[in-house]
Amino acid sequence: MTSQLSSKDKAWSARFSEPVSALVQRYTASVFFDKRMALFDIQGSLAHAAMLAKQGIISAADLADIERGMAQIRQEIEGGGFEWQLALEDVHLNIEKRLIELVGDAGKRLHTGRSRNDQVATDIRLYLRSAIDDILQLIRTLQSALVDLAEREHATILPGFTHMQVAQPVTFGHHMLAYVEMFGRDAERLADCRRRVNRLPLGAAALAGATFALDRYEVARLLGFEDVCHNSLDAVSDRDFAIEFCSAAALSMTHISRFSEELVIWMSPRVGFIDLADRFCTGSSIMPQKKNPDVPELARGKTGRVNGHLVALLTLMKGQPLAYNKDNQEDKEPLFDTVDTLTDTLRIFADMCSGITLKPQAMRAAALQGFATATDLADYLVKKGMPFRDAHEIVAHAVRDCEQAGCDLADLPLEKLQTYSSLIGADVFDVLSLEGSVAARNLVGGTAPAQVLQAVARWRQKLAAA
Ligand code: ARG
Repeated sequence: MTSQLSSKDKAWSARFSEPVSALVQRYTASVFFDKRMALFDIQGSLAHAAMLAKQGIISAADLADIERGMAQIRQEIEGGGFEWQLALEDVHLNIEKRLIELVGDAGKRLHTGRSRNDQVATDIRLYLRSAIDDILQLIRTLQSALVDLAEREHATILPGFTHMQVAQPVTFGHHMLAYVEMFGRDAERLADCRRRVNRLPLGAAALAGATFALDRYEVARLLGFEDVCHNSLDAVSDRDFAIEFCSAAALSMTHISRFSEELVIWMSPRVGFIDLADRFCTGSSIMPQKKNPDVPELARGKTGRVNGHLVALLTLMKGQPLAYNKDNQEDKEPLFDTVDTLTDTLRIFADMCSGITLKPQAMRAAALQGFATATDLADYLVKKGMPFRDAHEIVAHAVRDCEQAGCDLADLPLEKLQTYSSLIGADVFDVLSLEGSVAARNLVGGTAPAQVLQAVARWRQKLAAA
């Protein structure tokens, strides 16, 4: 990137008697990072120019020149040959300067009725809209991978935990579908956020609106925006749409982080419920035996970073009077990094689902250890006519006795079980088994294998329709 430029080349040069120092130039420039919006900047400029021509504000020949120049600039950028100049501050001035170099006066007319303030707000919205569309697709891919896993393991039993204590047996498929639900809500939030991203700031100009007869609805139509921003001060200054996105992204990362935490615990040799394919793990430089679940750990760590970006943007906004302030230039790096981090994480997790190998024996052994079917025994007694609180008390006694004897409820002979209640019959062993326990929770949202399969079918339909 070059940094030499005489002050007469600056977009705002004539007003100034001395150039900024090299440090100020670097400090105030954003081209290092906002050049990633270059193609959206061109897209916005072309729509603006087309509208200017249609309104008779510039000539058809000017428009043709602008289109020709922009086509070349696009090629230069895509081919890596475009020369970005630090002294030109940002993506907008870099492209405009090159356009003027290429097509002369027509290039100088492009900025008619426009400011970098409404231009940058438009670029961010175009960029973010496209990022949201990519992310929505990735969420669906991850959900599909989880649904596949849920279907395959719809009847595999592991202990369900509350307070990290064995609570009741659940099916692995059901457990995976819990995350499918979470990611489903994330997608809903992003789709809703997209509606507010998808509005056009151009026409707001610097802050008060333009003096030319711009057709804002035409520009909105050309750019695929659903509406225009209806207040010029608001259009150039607020970044709530980006904050909203970061909030939805932080929630999505939080869901991934919870999943990561489970994968890490499950993969610990102490637990040993799963193994993760080698391609998602790394070794230790000193301990030859180690295989570490780096990908989920990093995802958990990166969640902190995405949450931080949300707080950064909220803080960026909170002290700003209307309308545009240079503070807003600081919106981009957190936003871009949020998009990148979420995008990469979703992609890698979708792939990782196929790299999860279950160890059903270990899951089963763990489920058998913690009196996971105690509630089933209580429910059994209730179904035989006992009030639930009494049943709860009786089963608590039985559990305490088993704990002392070092056995499970299902290990007690029928005669022993009947000493707790005469309501207990030989059919009790159906509910004391892990299979009996999960199969009994056969209602919408329950863990029964039959319900898991129904939920899988429901999600497959939803994902196909999305
Ligand atoms: N680079 C600036 C940004 O990111 C573009 C808008 C600058 N506007 C201005 N009046 N300095 O916000």
